Amino acid sequence: MDRQGPRHHVESNRAHWDLTAADWIEPGRRNWADDQPRWGVYGIPESEVGLLAAFGGGDVVELGCGTAYVSAWLARRGGRPVGIDNSAAQLATAAGFQREFDLRFPLVHGDAERLPFVDESFDFAISEYGAAIWCDPYRWLPEAARVLRPGGRLVFLGNSVLQMLCVFDDDEAPAGDRLLRPQFGMHRFEWPDDPGIEFHISHGERIRLLRACGFEVEDLVELRPPADSEENRFPFIDLDWAQQWPAEEAWIVRRAG
Ligand SMILES: C[S@@+](CC[C@H](N)C(=O)[O-])C[C@H]1O[C@@H](n2cnc3c(N)ncnc32)[C@H](O)[C@@H]1O
Repeated sequence: MDRQGPRHHVESNRAHWDLTAADWIEPGRRNWADDQPRWGVYGIPESEVGLLAAFGGGDVVELGCGTAYVSAWLARRGGRPVGIDNSAAQLATAAGFQREFDLRFPLVHGDAERLPFVDESFDFAISEYGAAIWCDPYRWLPEAARVLRPGGRLVFLGNSVLQMLCVFDDDEAPAGDRLLRPQFGMHRFEWPDDPGIEFHISHGERIRLLRACGFEVEDLVELRPPADSEENRFPFIDLDWAQQWPAEEAWIVRRAG
């Protein structure tokens, strides 16, 4: 746990997400309206990915819930979700969808690196591009382990390590087939034209950290979009690339108990 850096990213990321929240209303509405979970930038159906295969209901926390459609999916599958997010504007969108779709659960304005929950209060924790990439793994993974009950699962999905080595700094063109930065030492990502600060670590480092937090790794799912997928709306990766190499990865881990 010796890689923790400064925490100013929490404030920078809050400002970034408050400012851009309006861009996520329509994608959020589409996901709220869809009963079938679809994951990642290509919306790959749960039936092809299996991230919820071990989900059996119970107390759920979504870490960096944004518009909270993942929590809505889990509520419809028998879970009792709580969504936590660092951005009041994102939570306002989520609260609007709760009214629109008549589905309520608690929404908490807070930081996934310092969870305002007591130890062992959840059976399942999940993050799709929330804490998974916007929080320092050396801070949020120990917190996720703390609030999970023994035997509870954490599922988190974000950009793959390989993608993070190949994307351009400026988002102008999709990733190519060259490694643009070192893997050794990768952790905190700051971009020239984007105030958002992300975190990505190598697989070996991730496994050591997960084990130090008391997690057993059950699966590392490398997502491959079907060939007939529509292009995604993000400029940094295209379908041809994502068909050849994993652009996204999901970890399924279980708190030992
Ligand atoms: C891309 S959204 C994730 C929600 C949704 N699954 C999605 O893909 O749109 C990222 C969310 O992470 C939240 N976030 C960033 N840093 C956070 C932190 N320290 N604690 C909790 N949430 C955080 C942001 O406010 C934002 O709403």
